[in-house]
Amino acid sequence: MTEKARAWFTLTGSDYRKGGLILSLILIVSCFHFLTPTDYRYLHEIYQRIYYIPILLAAFWYGPLIGFLTALLVSAIYVFHIRMDWHHFPVYTFNQYAEICLYHVIALVIGFLSSKEKRHREQLERTSAELAEAYQQLQDTFERLRKADRLAALGQLSAGIAHEIRNPLGSVKGSIEILEEEIPPDHPKYEFVQIVKEETARLDSIVTEFLEFARPPRPTFKPYSINELIESTLILLHKETTASGISVVKNLAPDLPLTPMDPDQIRQVLLNIFLNAVQAMPDRGTIDVRSRLENERVIVEVADTGIGVGEADLNRIFDPFFSTKPTGTGMGLSISYQLVENHGGLLSARANPERGMTFCVELPRT
Ligand SMILES: Nc1ncnc2c1ncn2[C@@H]1O[C@H](COP(=O)(O)OP(=O)(O)OP(=O)(O)O)[C@@H](O)[C@H]1O
Ligand SMILES: [Mg+2]
Repeated sequence: MTEKARAWFTLTGSDYRKGGLILSLILIVSCFHFLTPTDYRYLHEIYQRIYYIPILLAAFWYGPLIGFLTALLVSAIYVFHIRMDWHHFPVYTFNQYAEICLYHVIALVIGFLSSKEKRHREQLERTSAELAEAYQQLQDTFERLRKADRLAALGQLSAGIAHEIRNPLGSVKGSIEILEEEIPPDHPKYEFVQIVKEETARLDSIVTEFLEFARPPRPTFKPYSINELIESTLILLHKETTASGISVVKNLAPDLPLTPMDPDQIRQVLLNIFLNAVQAMPDRGTIDVRSRLENERVIVEVADTGIGVGEADLNRIFDPFFSTKPTGTGMGLSISYQLVENHGGLLSARANPERGMTFCVELPRT
């Protein structure tokens, strides 16, 4: 049975009430017809017109077919009454049969008009729902554009600063390497040389990250299996997850198509998301990874049961340098956001109803 046919045969509480009202009206008017003596012809003429009420209601509520069937039911009862009580009044009988014909005509006309109006109303409701959806999409796009704009401005700024820092940093690095050659390992100040070397290397890596954020390398696309990428990234994290007593649950759709992507970049994105999840669950928890195909987009969702993000911070977590961790650079998610966007996809986050966060990576299938 088709969806439409099923809807037709499914009766709601309101249908029972309306049907009951129509049948009761027919029954009451018919009783009056049968019980009122034929001497009171003027009363019979009134009853005959009251029959229009149930017919009109049926046609208005349920369209021409049910209206017509109601008119048929009324006619059957009325014809029976005419044959029983009015057969000796041929002129009046003719008038009654003419009225019966009118019952059907009225049922059909009102039924057609009402179903036309109903279709028109449904069309209007559909259009208004589509409009609301389009408005929501517009809002989302606007929000994304604003975010992209903010990221671009910050990117340019950090690129400028990073560039300025990198040159003197190169000189410091070179000088300390020369000094290192002069100072033997058993010298009491040798330890300070090592500290300068390590800290310069750390600064260099931060600067490289900033620059990567400002000018992320163009993705080199190749068809790749997202499930394979998830599996291989999880292997990299095995040590961290077992150390924190985190269990990983996988729900990967088995027949996903190969997706065009730069596997190194998407691995970096997944790694950032997984690492954040691990860091949000210092003592035990679950990471639930799901993949699926939806609307021509390959979707990866990573849900954790960690500390989550407060309402106020939720729209700041993709901003560069936003971090709530003592040693975090706050660049992980902002770089990931850009990388996914450069793939024509979208990275989003939402708070779970119970606890923790869900990060969602969407990549176009083509
Ligand atoms: N799964 C998560 N659960 C709770 N908070 C999260 C999660 N993922 C991200 N966050 C919040 O978003 C912030 C920004 O994350 P992001 O990865 O950009 O930087 P970070 O992790 O702080 O530093 P980095 O990744 O550079 O070490 C985090 O500091 C944290 O407050
Ligand atoms: Mg991070």
